[in-house]
Amino acid sequence: MKREGFATRLGVLTATLGSAVGLGNIWKFPYMTGQNGGAAFLFIYLAATVVVGLPIMIAEIMMGRRARANAITTWKKVAPDNSGWMLVGVCGVLAAFSIMAFYTDVVGWVFRYIVQAAAGGLNSSDPKAAEAVFKATVSAPWASLAWQWGVLALVSTIILGGVSKGIEKTTKILMPMLLGMLIVVCIRSLTLPRALDGLAFLFNPDFSKVDGEVVLMAMGLAFFKLSIGMGTMMTYGSYFREDANVPLTASRVMLADLTVSLLAGIAIFPAVFNYGFEPAAGPGLLFMTVPAVFSSMPFGQAFMTLFFVLTAVATIGAMLSLFEVPVAFMIESGLGWSRKKATIATAVGLGICGIPATLSFSAMSDVTLFGLNFFDFYDYLSSNLLMPIGGFFICVFAGWFWGRERTEADLSNRGALSNRAVIALYSLIVKWITPLLVLLVLLKGLGAF
Ligand code: PFF
Repeated sequence: MKREGFATRLGVLTATLGSAVGLGNIWKFPYMTGQNGGAAFLFIYLAATVVVGLPIMIAEIMMGRRARANAITTWKKVAPDNSGWMLVGVCGVLAAFSIMAFYTDVVGWVFRYIVQAAAGGLNSSDPKAAEAVFKATVSAPWASLAWQWGVLALVSTIILGGVSKGIEKTTKILMPMLLGMLIVVCIRSLTLPRALDGLAFLFNPDFSKVDGEVVLMAMGLAFFKLSIGMGTMMTYGSYFREDANVPLTASRVMLADLTVSLLAGIAIFPAVFNYGFEPAAGPGLLFMTVPAVFSSMPFGQAFMTLFFVLTAVATIGAMLSLFEVPVAFMIESGLGWSRKKATIATAVGLGICGIPATLSFSAMSDVTLFGLNFFDFYDYLSSNLLMPIGGFFICVFAGWFWGRERTEADLSNRGALSNRAVIALYSLIVKWITPLLVLLVLLKGLGAF
């Protein structure tokens, strides 16, 4: 049977970008920046994206494209003599599960905010009122679970329909619209009287607040943002066309992704300071500030609704890519499973794993693992442990075992591209710099020294 793949070169770019852009930009980046002191965190995150994120993304896509297989089988093919490497793929599938468990919960919040915005329930710039609405939304156990399962059903339906056509086309139109909307919020936010305080918070660094844990968080965010370290980009790489320029595509995705995150930051922080929200408010930050910004402008309610609709759309590409990791594995695992069976198994598994994450804000708020509720635990486990560990082994393999010749052939499309300098730089970084940095940050963040 012929393996599926992305049809066009543009499709390759939009699907990869679709995986990267999502809640990470609009929800996670702003709230983590707010919790970790602002600009200093932003700069560390930027550095981590360039020196750690980009090389790993290139390595993953390269390996997946050569192996033309899912995240676990790829290891079997590229390291046939040592099956220990397969554990990296197994870690990846675990990471995909633990991300989806809380990601689908937050997407559920976004969907509920669409409904509430349209009904006029969010028209207030008062921090107390915004907080009350957010708390009421997340702490209703049955409604939260129902929305989460609804989100899972939606993603499963799209995945069942085969990888892309519908979604590729929709995201091609809706992504630019999201960008347009973000710019509208930015303009509104920047014209608020106390906008400058927000910009200073975002761009004027105070490195005294930075410790090992903060650097680990920033690096974890870089992994989460670029969907790397866990086999997603490997799986997508396996759908890449032979003529796609891997380093260029990865660099474009990284830059576009950073742009969206920065716009989200510029949209949110001026409003946070203007209306007196708490920058360290955590996961509720987006859901409290965005309604405040829109409430104070003409046609705010309509714009607010549209904003949440577009955010929901942006999350779909990311969720599809997360789903695809276990689904592709199950289809190719030799069990003879169809796409349908694999998708249903993944959705049911996630529906169950997601329960404790979703109930972390209500019935299970007191249940903790290592001092974290389940929602935070899944997040910490994936971003701060599984993805950096996976990323470490991926770059060690790409840097030390892939070999110069194969790297050159793969990244230049067998000499069709003239990008020798780029390949030399990549080889140097992926061999010496990235693995060392990831290891140091991981150990330091975990308190090893
Ligand atoms: N990159 C996505 C985001 O920032 O929202 C999240 C994500 C998608 C993480 C796919 C990991 C992944 F494999």
